[in-house]
Amino acid sequence: MTLSARRSLRRLLLPLLCMGVATLALAGPLRAASTPLPRVVTADGRHQLQVDGKPYLILGAQVNNSSNWPAMLPAVWPAIEALHANTVQVPIGWGQIEPVQGQFDFSFLDTLVTQAREHDVRLVLLWFATWKNNGPNYAPSWVKLDNKRYPRVVKKDGSTLGSLSPFGAATLEADRAAFVALMKHLRQIDGDRHTVIMVQVENESGTYGTDRDYSAAGDKLLQSPVPAAVLQKTGKSAGSWSQVFGKDAAEYSYAWAIAHYIEQVAAAGKAVYNLPMYANAALRDPFNPGPPGGYSSGGPTDNVIGIWRAAAPSLDFVAPDIYMREWKKYTAVLDRYSRPDNALFVAETGNDTAYARYVFATLGHQAIGFSPFGMDYTKYSNWPLGAKAITPETIQPFAANYELLAPLAGLIATRSFEGKVWGASEPDDTHEETLDLGDWRVQVSYGRPQFGVDPPQGNPKKLGGVVIVQLAHNEYLVAGYHARVNFMPPKGHDGQHFLLEKVQEGRYDDNGQWHFIREWNGDQTDYGLNLTSQPQVLRVKLATY
Ligand code: DGJ
Repeated sequence: MTLSARRSLRRLLLPLLCMGVATLALAGPLRAASTPLPRVVTADGRHQLQVDGKPYLILGAQVNNSSNWPAMLPAVWPAIEALHANTVQVPIGWGQIEPVQGQFDFSFLDTLVTQAREHDVRLVLLWFATWKNNGPNYAPSWVKLDNKRYPRVVKKDGSTLGSLSPFGAATLEADRAAFVALMKHLRQIDGDRHTVIMVQVENESGTYGTDRDYSAAGDKLLQSPVPAAVLQKTGKSAGSWSQVFGKDAAEYSYAWAIAHYIEQVAAAGKAVYNLPMYANAALRDPFNPGPPGGYSSGGPTDNVIGIWRAAAPSLDFVAPDIYMREWKKYTAVLDRYSRPDNALFVAETGNDTAYARYVFATLGHQAIGFSPFGMDYTKYSNWPLGAKAITPETIQPFAANYELLAPLAGLIATRSFEGKVWGASEPDDTHEETLDLGDWRVQVSYGRPQFGVDPPQGNPKKLGGVVIVQLAHNEYLVAGYHARVNFMPPKGHDGQHFLLEKVQEGRYDDNGQWHFIREWNGDQTDYGLNLTSQPQVLRVKLATY
């Protein structure tokens, strides 16, 4: 059954399902979970997200910031459906759930979870609390208006900023208590279903306008010993932050302070409901970052990933929010966040056409998921970061990619964990790229006629991309759009005679069964495998002679 057929069936069954939910709610205590909790596993420096015990690839979408209200959800689901997303990221604001201290309102979460089930998608909740893009706008008024109890960051000149201080003990206590209440409620309503598969703790933490908090607590930290976990991660020997990190000490100690704060929130949340958790980063320019404070200092930027991983072991990873259209920058960010100690998840990316192709390079970096931001029909657009307007046309290139990738998602997640997935996205000005598969190399080129050897010109719109998955020895799955794929012998074996023994076009069904459509041969293979605007999936068998 196709995804859309499955969704239609669920809608028909909706009244029955709702009755089921009501019965369950009335039944009282939580049923024992029938499948394992979602989790991120790591082996041999590679990572895998598992949901219900199976490898899971997030083909995600994030809604706009203020779409976290029941009245907005009707404008969310049509966009998610059009997109073929399997996972939706939705904010839960601290002020929304705890407008009065100690009094909680989870009605939006309840509605969201019920509707996500109806639409057959999983959720990632975004905890907008002490930090939402550096400031506490999503914190309740009783927090954000009480500077005395919940202190703000102090600048070098003694003035204060909007950002809340990570040294505020009462702030931490209050945020943590609210997060624990949220996770408890979530476990109660979803502990047996895992509609929510992951939680982002805070949003783009860090502070603009200073490298650190110049409060007394911030000064004191600078002269305190660097914790052993940070020394181990960074390969440094013991000393105070100032001694060990010199000119970087202000930023690094501040990163540790924020990560340590978020660690305590995440750990307390996991103790009641152990879902995967992560923190997202407002990035700095990968090549010309400028001074900290010009970017969000203290957040999990690429230069402090190690400090964050050491300070916040309860986080499964830190994730980049990529709003850089340039290929060189985008792929540099993917390189930096895909590490043996850090699973790559593109937690946000722009929703303009230029970004759609990057799902392929993201998969080639062993990612557990990819998620464009602002994917709903609430009539908001964050241009110039994203598209000028969110319409079916804006969604289409992302939707085409997800439609192609959805039936392959489990396979990609499985083989990626074994290091057997490669990906390429069309560069800005060079029109080809060579991927090294170990046993073979693959030249991917863009903007060529299907027949002949004319050099690549690039596509009129940069939509080209390819994912390659090794299925067996000398056997690969190739899928993508607007690209030509040419296999070549590995480096050092240039003269080797080889051929495409068999190229099958087909499709995978929901159960992972391959359905053969036809064989490609002759003009369809003589100059390479030309992937078009159609969602084509090929199984390629290579041989030498
Ligand atoms: C990154 C943030 O994490 C999002 O919540 C949003 O504010 C975008 N920037 C801009 O639209």
